[in-house]
Amino acid sequence: MQSSEVRRRFLGFFEARGHTVVPSASLIPARDPTILFTIAGMVPFKDVFLGTEKRSYTRAVSIQKCLRVADLEDVGPSPQHQSFFEMLGNFSFGDYFKEEALDFSWEFLTKELGLPGDALHPTVYEEDDESAAIWARIKGIPVSAVVRLGADENFWSMGETGPCGPNSEIIFDRAGKCLRDGSDCAITCDCDRWWEVWNNVFMQFNRAADGTLTPLAKPGVDTGMGFERLVTVMQEVDSNYENDLFVPLFDRVRALAGDGDAIEPERLMAYRAVTDHARACTFLIADGITPGNEGRGYVLRRILRRASYHGRLLGLDRPFLSDVCRGVIEMMGPIYPEVADAAERISDLVTGEEERFLTTLEAGLTRLEQTVEAAAGNTTVLSGDEAFRLHDTFGFPLDLTRQALAARGWSVDEAGFERALEAQRRRGREALEEQRGEDEGLLAAVGDSEPTRFLGFDSLTADADLAVLFSEGQRRDEANEGDAVEIVLAPGTPFYAEGGGQVGDAGRIVGENGTVAIEAVRRAGGGIFIHSGRVALGRIVQGERVRAEVDEATRDATRRNHTATHLLHRALRMVVGDQAKQAGSLVAPDRLRFDFLYNKPLTEEQLREAERLVREQIVLDRPVHTDVMPLQEAIDLGADAMFDEKYGEEARVVSVNGDGVFSRELCGGTHCRATGEVGAFFIVEQRSVGAGVRRIEAVTGFPAYEYADARRDVVERLSREINVPPAELPERISALRERAREQPAVAAANLPKPSEVLAKAEKRNGTAIIIDRVDEADATALREFGDNLRRLTKSAAIVLGSVFDDKLNVIVMLTPDLVEGGLHAGKLAKQIGKEMGAGGGGRPDVATAGGDPARVDAGLALAKSLLKL
Ligand code: SER
Repeated sequence: MQSSEVRRRFLGFFEARGHTVVPSASLIPARDPTILFTIAGMVPFKDVFLGTEKRSYTRAVSIQKCLRVADLEDVGPSPQHQSFFEMLGNFSFGDYFKEEALDFSWEFLTKELGLPGDALHPTVYEEDDESAAIWARIKGIPVSAVVRLGADENFWSMGETGPCGPNSEIIFDRAGKCLRDGSDCAITCDCDRWWEVWNNVFMQFNRAADGTLTPLAKPGVDTGMGFERLVTVMQEVDSNYENDLFVPLFDRVRALAGDGDAIEPERLMAYRAVTDHARACTFLIADGITPGNEGRGYVLRRILRRASYHGRLLGLDRPFLSDVCRGVIEMMGPIYPEVADAAERISDLVTGEEERFLTTLEAGLTRLEQTVEAAAGNTTVLSGDEAFRLHDTFGFPLDLTRQALAARGWSVDEAGFERALEAQRRRGREALEEQRGEDEGLLAAVGDSEPTRFLGFDSLTADADLAVLFSEGQRRDEANEGDAVEIVLAPGTPFYAEGGGQVGDAGRIVGENGTVAIEAVRRAGGGIFIHSGRVALGRIVQGERVRAEVDEATRDATRRNHTATHLLHRALRMVVGDQAKQAGSLVAPDRLRFDFLYNKPLTEEQLREAERLVREQIVLDRPVHTDVMPLQEAIDLGADAMFDEKYGEEARVVSVNGDGVFSRELCGGTHCRATGEVGAFFIVEQRSVGAGVRRIEAVTGFPAYEYADARRDVVERLSREINVPPAELPERISALRERAREQPAVAAANLPKPSEVLAKAEKRNGTAIIIDRVDEADATALREFGDNLRRLTKSAAIVLGSVFDDKLNVIVMLTPDLVEGGLHAGKLAKQIGKEMGAGGGGRPDVATAGGDPARVDAGLALAKSLLKL
């Protein structure tokens, strides 16, 4: 049976039994800080099991993409192990329990898939008599024949905390495949005979951080079946890597590595690692992760590099992985649209990261080689410091170093590596801790009080108690003019504390006898806002009643940028597609910065279009609404949210509505009342900030006008400088550049100094009359020379002639006083040109003439008489 058929039957079977088909959630848990990745089908339903979230259904079925990276090193050596996998699951939230769950799973396996009941063996938790009785009934065996196992095997927990409960597994017996004791080994034998196909977990408890179990109000069922495993069983092959989910990927690697049908056992490990990792990388990138040095980004980097290293073991020394990822995209794209959408980004990111890695891989391997040689057999253990250096400088994940060494019979001092890593982390943490140390003192002083209430959505001023006063890390009763202080207000404050990308407010806290200028506000643990600033006047006293006043102009400028950020986010998605997901932002008073996932520069047209869409919303002056609603409702409404932001149970949803909804985002920031208040919008810069992430900076409101004015000033200056109207500037500049390209460089150094020429010039009534030959200059240089002369004096009539490269150029320039007095450079040039056998003309202040190079002196002589010298 094909894997696609297994998918179809599983969903169909449970849908027919009242289950809602729920699409796979992201690999990144939406709002669960306890885990990095979705590790099981139940993860998206965690809060439903805990009873803190309600859904419109009580039965669900899903095929969930999952990632488990705890034992990444087993991927390759083990014929079964994978990091990325899909999990088939059916779920009951306070609906059916053990009886129906076990009946469903038996019916699906034996009837729908037609697996032989004799080969399927259930196990139950040792204390679970109820499940044992159900299995005895289903299988027609005595209750005592049902296998009971301890908590290690048959009690499932999501993690150290969270929902958990006893479980019952269904084990598939591959009689004759035992690799250890022969054919009659026990069901617990750690061999290749017994394969767990299904796990039915009866969710009954919530485990707290201290290990205590609290019974759930409504127990439920969470089942999980490894999709790849089930497909392997159905296709009667010996390993997941041999079923139709992997065969096409193996074929790709085979073609790249030039292997025949049979793959040598030692190469097989590399095949498994490469194909598994290509799946993991593809799905991680599709869910918005980019390779990095921390958290999820680092996991992706590790997996990608490990794949690259294994490719190298196969002799692939150029980037190859994106080719394998393409196979994954072809296969999975039709099932997971996010994978198809991200095809280009996946390919670019994978190739880019691989290229970078390959350059360091070479250097790192050489270094490793040298270390091994230098040891000359005296040791076969790589020091922790050296392994750390490889990690830090060459980007070698430890498992890769381990692997490269294993091939040489070496190992790593792992404890030493951990020590070095920890030392680095400690260094990195020091600065943070200093800050946190201060916060801790402050928070201890705050005690158990309620989180600070943010009052600044509706008002920019509020009266409050100055609950805690700190200066230089110490609690104070009072602070005096000039002191740097940190202040906690109770019960609330109109000051916004930095968060969600928006900077904290600035303003004043005014007491009975003094004023504090507030420069920054941050959020510390427990939702306490800390205002930092300096006593600007007088003194303030702990416990006094104060008035908090947010600086209105700064806040207004900030909210313009926040609303514009939402508009830009939506506009970018309209222009380049939904993949342009937000990856971070900064909302400050003077500008906004928006980072989003996209792997190439936006074209000029795309930027203009995004700008136009934002401006359209500004001009249409759309209302900006804020609604507070349960988080799930907001998500169901399709509100945009950032993966890494934490939202409470109640979510603020900020929407811009026009004809339908233009933008809708989960957001705790401050906004304009309507888009018109944004005033103006200019994108000022776009650039790349790391693999697959682009940054746009933009300005709104007054800074936008300042930006436009500065640009206009530049254009006007240029226009004056080269004497053409602004609209003709581009053409004129291209023409000038063209001419400069065509003509040989002019030896401008040979020209006389304008100041000297001016000093020698005849003066009449304060006007310098400069009539001269400057033969070293071409037309541009002549013009420049004339301009420089003109800039040196208030009043001058300038006629310069030059024969350069057999071409004659004459330029006539007059300062404004002479023009006003009735002289006209254009008319002069016309007469001079005529004298030289051609013509001339131009504006009243600047003009040119041409003619026969032999007649240049005659032309200048005429100029002299015209200017009455
Ligand atoms: N959560 C259980 C597991 O992962 C069953 O879905 O095995």
